[in-house]
Amino acid sequence: MSLFSSKSVSPVDVLSKILADSYVLLLKTQNVHWNIEGSKFRSIHITTDEHYNNLFEAIDCIAERIRMVGGKAPATFAEFTKLASFDEKVDTDNQNEMLATLLSSHEAIRGDIISGIKQLDGSDDFGTIDVLNSRLAFHDKVVWMLKATLKK
Ligand SMILES: [Fe+2]
Repeated sequence: MSLFSSKSVSPVDVLSKILADSYVLLLKTQNVHWNIEGSKFRSIHITTDEHYNNLFEAIDCIAERIRMVGGKAPATFAEFTKLASFDEKVDTDNQNEMLATLLSSHEAIRGDIISGIKQLDGSDDFGTIDVLNSRLAFHDKVVWMLKATLKK
């Protein structure tokens, strides 16, 4: 039961999807952090460290927001796999392809966040919208950085 009157959409559903996306992307980001090889090793190793730390903190914030609005936070890999918009695989050893995989996942989360904000627009759940806006700003920045890094 939500504390907030909104239209048909539940903030719990919106947040649960972003939580799942973020958890899967955390693992993907660590995969690249650990396994990347090549000329971009140092910069990507350092950047992915920043990114997975950001995601780790965000995951806690999103899960706690789910509790605040009356939901139960999904907390199993089975649920995350089912809810996320992309899988955890990084099926390449090529550094640019690894970055492209991360880029596409960040873009997918952006899409899910934007869709969630639009669905909650008009509700009085400003706290959830604030959490989503703050996540969007992070993914916007990472998309920009990854695109700049991949530019030929
Ligand atoms: Fe590390």
